Amino acid sequence: MEIIIRETYEQMSRLAADVIRHQLLKKPSSVLGLATGSTPIGTYKELVRMHQEEGLDFSKVITFNLDEYLGLPPSHDQSYRYFMDQHLFNHINVDPKNIHVPYGHAEDIEEFCEWYEAEIKRTGGIDIQVLGIGGDGHIAFNEPGSSLGSRTRLKTLTKQTIDDNARFFAKEEEVPRFAITMGVGTILEAKKIIMLANGPKKAEIVAEAIEGPVTAQVSASVLQMHRDVVVILDAEAGSRLKRADYYKWVYQEKKRLIPQMIGKVT
Ligand code: GLP
Repeated sequence: MEIIIRETYEQMSRLAADVIRHQLLKKPSSVLGLATGSTPIGTYKELVRMHQEEGLDFSKVITFNLDEYLGLPPSHDQSYRYFMDQHLFNHINVDPKNIHVPYGHAEDIEEFCEWYEAEIKRTGGIDIQVLGIGGDGHIAFNEPGSSLGSRTRLKTLTKQTIDDNARFFAKEEEVPRFAITMGVGTILEAKKIIMLANGPKKAEIVAEAIEGPVTAQVSASVLQMHRDVVVILDAEAGSRLKRADYYKWVYQEKKRLIPQMIGKVT
């Protein structure tokens, strides 16, 4: 794992976008795994800027989103499809045919989940997966106790996740109780993973996930088993890490001696 702690949210977001830009320059037809939530908004903003000002090309890119609330149509302003349109897809030259967000209104959920998994495989697998982390350690909507081998499926959200996400809905009762989500096993098959976290509320769970034991009780901890994970944090989210000084030293020395290797696990 490479753990990078930047001072601010803007610096964190720019670095994450830069890692994605490198991937797209290396392979213009990259398959991107994308996340929602407030954390990656700055990264998407920077990618939009790179597209508009520097011509970063998304025309051959294929995208797969991690998850979607059950029952919300893409037109619902709290659906993850709507979120992605607003923050990224409407502002870059991605081909709409290449966009995949789980259908929250799928009629046959199990059949849809199997199709989603098959579609990821058919496109050659995810090259780079962006992740946030939930307050209870979830990645996508893999709540505590999710099998570390799980695949795309229906998940019941925890009370904590419903409370965390209630701020986006008029009333707590409106927050969907279920979601379709890629599994932990699905996520682990991505060739590269970037996990982002910012703000003081994430400090404790980030430390548990990165420096604690690997356990299905903290889904994000399984990232310790993946060979190519870059965790990019702001100072607040990184404030409870025991080895923060070491991670900061690694970043400084890389920047000084091998800047081209920042964001590449060494
Ligand atoms: C939701 C999403 C996750 C996201 C998490 C954190 O539960 N399913 O993919 O990582 O929220 O959200 P935020 O970035 O707003 O803290």
